[in-house]
Amino acid sequence: MSELIKVKINEQEFKVEKGARLIDVCRENAFNIPSFCYYQDLALQASCRMCLVRIEKMPKLQTSCTITCTDGMIVTTQSAEIEKAQRAMGEFLLANHPLDCPVCDRGGECELQEMIFDWGDVEERFVEPKNAQPEKFLSPIVANDPQRCILCKRCTRVCDEWMGEDAIEAGNRGVNTVIGTYGGWLGCSQCGNCIEVCPTGTLLDAVYRHETRPWELDQTISTDVYSSDGMQLSIGSRGGFVHRIVARDRYVDGLNGEFLDVKARFAHEFINHADRIKTPLIRYKKGGKLIPTTWDEAIHFVASKFKESGNNVGVVASARLTNESIFALKRFATEAANSDNYAVSDAYDLAPFFNNLSVPLATHKEIRHAKTILLIGGEPEEEQTFTAKQMRQAVRNGGAKLIIVHHTPIRLTHQATQFIHVNPGSLDAFALTFADKTDVGVLKKMGAAQSEIDDLLRTIGESEGDFIIMFGRDLSAEAQATLANAAGNFASETRRVLLHPLPLYNNSVGANDMMTGKKPLQDVLKSSKVLLIGGGLSEENARALANKDFVVVQEMFETATTEFADVVLPAASFAEVDGTFTNNTGFVQRVRQAIEPVHQAKADWIITSMIAREMGVDFGYNFSASAAFKAVADSILAYSGLRYPILKDESRPVQAKYAVVAEKKDLSNEADALLQRIEALPDEAEKNTVTPRVGHKLHRVTTMTGKTAQFHLLANGNPKPDNLLVSPLVQFNLDGTPREETKAQVAAVGVGDKIEDKENVAHKVVLK
Ligand code: SF4
Ligand code: SF4
Ligand code: FES
Repeated sequence: MSELIKVKINEQEFKVEKGARLIDVCRENAFNIPSFCYYQDLALQASCRMCLVRIEKMPKLQTSCTITCTDGMIVTTQSAEIEKAQRAMGEFLLANHPLDCPVCDRGGECELQEMIFDWGDVEERFVEPKNAQPEKFLSPIVANDPQRCILCKRCTRVCDEWMGEDAIEAGNRGVNTVIGTYGGWLGCSQCGNCIEVCPTGTLLDAVYRHETRPWELDQTISTDVYSSDGMQLSIGSRGGFVHRIVARDRYVDGLNGEFLDVKARFAHEFINHADRIKTPLIRYKKGGKLIPTTWDEAIHFVASKFKESGNNVGVVASARLTNESIFALKRFATEAANSDNYAVSDAYDLAPFFNNLSVPLATHKEIRHAKTILLIGGEPEEEQTFTAKQMRQAVRNGGAKLIIVHHTPIRLTHQATQFIHVNPGSLDAFALTFADKTDVGVLKKMGAAQSEIDDLLRTIGESEGDFIIMFGRDLSAEAQATLANAAGNFASETRRVLLHPLPLYNNSVGANDMMTGKKPLQDVLKSSKVLLIGGGLSEENARALANKDFVVVQEMFETATTEFADVVLPAASFAEVDGTFTNNTGFVQRVRQAIEPVHQAKADWIITSMIAREMGVDFGYNFSASAAFKAVADSILAYSGLRYPILKDESRPVQAKYAVVAEKKDLSNEADALLQRIEALPDEAEKNTVTPRVGHKLHRVTTMTGKTAQFHLLANGNPKPDNLLVSPLVQFNLDGTPREETKAQVAAVGVGDKIEDKENVAHKVVLK
């Protein structure tokens, strides 16, 4: 523990860590310090001068965000002198800021509005005309009202430090300074974190803007349904409709702070989309149409078909479902259908990793404060965005060493201390050499030099503190088992080793935990004539359903999988159910129901248990999600003792208790398989030198993201429109081609005008 020193704040004495930041110490001890530019864990800006305090023996008021505590420091945070100075700063901030909070999208959540209202009676002596500017679009999903900016530069710092993108910057000088983009259009990953941290209504969510007032929304804390990072978020809903998703700190305090990515924040329009399946559907005849039916009829029909088929039922669970739903599907297989033919649809099998775990899993906080990080394969900046943010900050703000071993110069290599650029397909070779020091002439196969490996080993050898090894899905199962098993070898008295897997789906880890004893998906698809599928399969896997006798699919939308279904049962989205997801650090986190299930949808675990009950097997859940979770916790060792109340507080996530293998396992079979694969690699190979474009995975249009219209424009090149005052959705077709029919109307729109879009996207249009 660091040295403790004494400081006196407002006549009270405190013991604090030497070097602690004064603003944090004051706030931790309930002394309110106003601030705009200060943001914990970002580089200091010190421009707003709101956080002023008086420190004894210092000649003038000091900004508490820039002061570190020293022994014997005597501080005053409230006095007439301090308030006068702060009020004067408030007056300056309002010099150009419009006083029209009732029409601002941030009204009710704006930090500037709150501060000024809290003070009351703020003078406004500036009588000069304000520097008014029109509200415009910076991208399909980031809108901008420049005149509301107070130049705190939180946005530019998160873009730089969290995202490594540096896509927005302050332009112009003096009173004309504005936050702008390079070339007038944002070609970034569109994370929206600049919107989240903006204390005013300057940067705005263009998917949601002007839909509701924030105080009209019910806020429900839940977990992201896209990334395996398990980001905590708040679902804003009203009257059964999800309007927006934020990580705003006034609503939610999860492991990700205010960080979210483009999918978590903006791709929520699938929830209330018109294409949701509305009732159960039965295809009475192969090749016939799906006909709407009642739940009673559908469940009875499905149960009788499953009973007729004997023990040949295959069960597949999507890694997007909650733990409760996946576990119910497994129970259905083993208890109702008496079958051991069950699988997860995620092609990435985490079993080899977890069965060989030689060190604990790293948390995201540990990644942020790691001293050395080794990334082998994967692309966290596109798939596990919060992990990527923690890595960038570990390097940028914590001085960590980042070593990347990859076949592709991914964007994160720009932050790397060392990049070992290997030949395509040779990551397994690296894994085996690194873990087992096996010399099979692999350097040539990898296209790497011995000196590169020596440098890597030297860096690890010299590193003290946490050393984190993370790897992506592009390593084979054998390579993952080998690395997980060998990680412990790199520990020393001063170095702790931690592992971090990079699976794709929000509940890949939970699916692996729930489906103990699962079979490979292809085996289940091949060997079963009758199937129950929770969620969708890839188009390629779905084709394997063509010749099956009977297929039941629990889904939200009609997909390539439901094309082959004899019965489709409408499943509820994550916003309509209670449950849990387990993230890539092993945290078991709550999913909470924000709205009633739309139309006739039901939670997957309810659907599955209804079919089982009709077949004579009662899971005993009695329509209670907490009972469904208790069954999980009573059966899965790593979850033993967990209950919903224990998982209540998102600021204190609970990690599942994964067994760490104490003894090094005999993995000679895995090593043989790896050696064979390595020997088959060519001696010479051309390296991939192209860095993939920002968003090439994040902006992909899928069944869920494609229901948010803006994703189509992002995926189709994110074209810059002619008129920034009008929504790109009005100016482009979804494939990114210009909409000729709106051209004349759009060209006529100037500042102060308003246009209506004929195709019901009027609420997405600038109404100014
Ligand atoms: S959306 Fe994200 S990447 Fe784009 S400018 Fe804002 S913070 Fe930067
Ligand atoms: S746009 Fe918002 S976050 Fe950025 S400098 Fe202006 S007020 Fe601050
Ligand atoms: S918060 Fe300290 S100067 Fe802005």
